[in-house]
Amino acid sequence: MSRLRVAIQKSGRLSDKSQALLQNCGLRFARSKDKLFWYGKDFPVDLLLVRDDDIPRMIMGGVCELGIVGENVANEVMLDRNGGTGLIPLRKLEFGHCRLSLAVPEQSDIVGAEGLDGRRVATTYPALTRSLLKERGVEAKIVELAGSVEIAPGLGTADAIADLVSTGTTLRANHLKEIEVLFESTAALYGTGESLPQEKQDLLDRLLARIDGVLQ
Ligand code: PRP
Ligand code: ZN
Repeated sequence: MSRLRVAIQKSGRLSDKSQALLQNCGLRFARSKDKLFWYGKDFPVDLLLVRDDDIPRMIMGGVCELGIVGENVANEVMLDRNGGTGLIPLRKLEFGHCRLSLAVPEQSDIVGAEGLDGRRVATTYPALTRSLLKERGVEAKIVELAGSVEIAPGLGTADAIADLVSTGTTLRANHLKEIEVLFESTAALYGTGESLPQEKQDLLDRLLARIDGVLQ
């Protein structure tokens, strides 16, 4: 009997709402001790609890058929892969709203994306930021960081940052001001671009019908 695997964020902004969505679809899980793999009890869909940034590559690598992740994270990976077909958005979800914004130190006189031509922009989303700046005719030096982007201007390693903003608390705490929104993001359900065996496809269609019911 076929089963599907869905990767969701283990802990963070999307985890509770991702779990709630699947539970509202009537899925029940037996939680394993290490909590990384939850076995689906009544419906053959299992959960993998992982870092959100790992989800796109897990889908593309065939570790799971589905994943719930922010559009920003998925787009970063797709751009980095030159628009590979390994990942396709199936349903936009109604949670995880945030924006990828440019921010500069409070005292900076840079006013918009245009002011960043030739300047250094620190981000954990290098491909997405480069592409969104290019759309605006701006060519910046992208400083790729693994995290703690908001301290880069203070350390003198960047003139600006491109980072996710939700409440704005992180920017304020670091004396940064938002100068332009580059991209509005929400969470979405992604699937693999590979065609699935018929049994799995049927299962996916049943799951999507339940998700559509919950989203209504
Ligand atoms: C983002 C971003 C900031 C924070 C902004 O991190 O990198 O740290 O959220 O939120 P605020 O405007 O409400 O202060 P995220 O939650 O994506 O965590 P992650 O980088 O660990 O995935
Ligand atoms: Zn993350």
